[in-house]
Amino acid sequence: MSEISENSPVYDKKNPFLACLRENRLLSKEGSIKDTRHFVVDIAGSGLVYTCGDSLGVYPTNNSECVQELLDALGASGEEMVRLPKDEEDISLREALSHRLSLAQPTKKIMKALLESGVDGETKSALEAKLVPENNESTKEYLENREFADLLLDFPGARLSPQEFIVNLRKLMPRLYSIASSPTVYPSDVHLTIAVVRYHTNGRDRLGVCSTFLAERAPLAESIVPVFVAKSHFGLPEDDSADLIMVGPGTGIAPFRAFLQERIARGGSGRSWVFFGDQHHDTDYLYGEEFEKYLAEGQLDRLDLAWSRDQDYKIYVQDKLLENAAEVWKWLQGGAYFYVCGDAKRMAKDVNAALHKIAQEHGGMSEEEAIAWVKALKKEKRYQRDVY
Ligand SMILES: Cc1cc2nc3c(=O)[nH]c(=O)nc-3n(C[C@H](O)[C@H](O)[C@H](O)COP(=O)(O)OP(=O)(O)OC[C@H]3O[C@@H](n4cnc5c(N)ncnc54)[C@H](O)[C@@H]3O)c2cc1C
Ligand SMILES: NC(=O)c1ccc[n+]([C@@H]2O[C@H](COP(=O)([O-])OP(=O)(O)OC[C@H]3O[C@@H](n4cnc5c(N)ncnc54)[C@H](OP(=O)(O)O)[C@@H]3O)[C@@H](O)[C@H]2O)c1
Repeated sequence: MSEISENSPVYDKKNPFLACLRENRLLSKEGSIKDTRHFVVDIAGSGLVYTCGDSLGVYPTNNSECVQELLDALGASGEEMVRLPKDEEDISLREALSHRLSLAQPTKKIMKALLESGVDGETKSALEAKLVPENNESTKEYLENREFADLLLDFPGARLSPQEFIVNLRKLMPRLYSIASSPTVYPSDVHLTIAVVRYHTNGRDRLGVCSTFLAERAPLAESIVPVFVAKSHFGLPEDDSADLIMVGPGTGIAPFRAFLQERIARGGSGRSWVFFGDQHHDTDYLYGEEFEKYLAEGQLDRLDLAWSRDQDYKIYVQDKLLENAAEVWKWLQGGAYFYVCGDAKRMAKDVNAALHKIAQEHGGMSEEEAIAWVKALKKEKRYQRDVY
């Protein structure tokens, strides 16, 4: 490991560390419709430090085929020089499209730019029709299902120069991933649990930029993954005797793997209770062997599992919470911390509703009292969420 000195560079969001991937292995088993993976990112020698609950920021590279498709549609070679807003130097168009700009999420701005670029009459009418205010909703829907390349193909004949084109693209942003390892156990590694995003819209297969960058395009053992540590409000209590209730379906399990590793390494006396869920027990039990071992060895006190597609009706983590409501309430009354990680849109809302229900039914509270109680729990930092 290289020495860290006072003069070593400080790596952060503005100056990411070029890390290498040491491991990229499937967690989902054959037969799963998901592709969820375990990554080990080597941060040795970087001076980066993390605590349980932090996330790793990753700057991805766009897929080279997607970049080439855009270059072809623009009639460009990629060697053309462009200047990004706020930059002081020109870079090549290929470099800008590969590393600096998002090729997805076009807005009306590009449609207006295409319109003004001198397209033929038919394309002009089609663009004008899309852009009239009465069509706002359909324009929004149209744009939602498309990337920049689709627009250039849908409205051919645009004469945008590389510079005129790139000012319509947003910056390629880093993605955050909840860290799945304990810094005490793995000080020079960061473990991640990532669901690879692949879907189909507008008749085309789409790839999530960063999850497929890590899964498919970042070779192992090459220092090419720009990373930084994003500090979080989310984390373990200082008091290692406090009980922990951790609700983390899907990739939401990531920080709780870290919490458990850390608690075990520190020899904390507080109890731990994990609620995990995913589609099928046989194919989607992420880190199943580890959690079963912790349970068998008494390092994890309770493990409740919700398999949503192993029967013809849904069982979700909140159903497991409600099934165990009396015991959950007892733990909370005894000072337990309640953590939720994973999907923000649906799961976290439903778990929040379940928590309110438990307070009403087992704490004998009115709806208003339950709301106030949950609010107080948050204020005491005993109800923490890391949702996305
Ligand atoms: C604090 C935090 C922690 C996180 N931790 C984790 C983690 O531990 N593990 C993890 O896997 N992710 C985690 N994420 C999410 C992660 O940051 C990325 O958002 C995720 O990996 C997708 O990024 P991407 O670049 O692969 O996809 P992108 O290129 O960003 O594409 C994703 C976008 O594609 C679109 N999309 C996706 N699916 C569909 C669909 N079926 N139909 C239509 N459109 C669709 C949506 O617009 C979506 O926003 C976390 C996020 C935050 C904010
Ligand atoms: N809104 C979104 O765009 C969204 C939401 C979630 C995840 N994602 C992305 O999808 C990828 C995969 O996510 P993931 O593997 O972490 O897991 P996930 O898709 O969140 O699924 C994990 C488990 O949660 C279940 N679930 C679905 N709705 C729920 C609800 N209302 N309450 C409780 N549980 C619920 C799922 O069941 P079923 O699938 O059987 O219903 C599944 O068993 C990630 O990239 C993530 O970022 C996106």
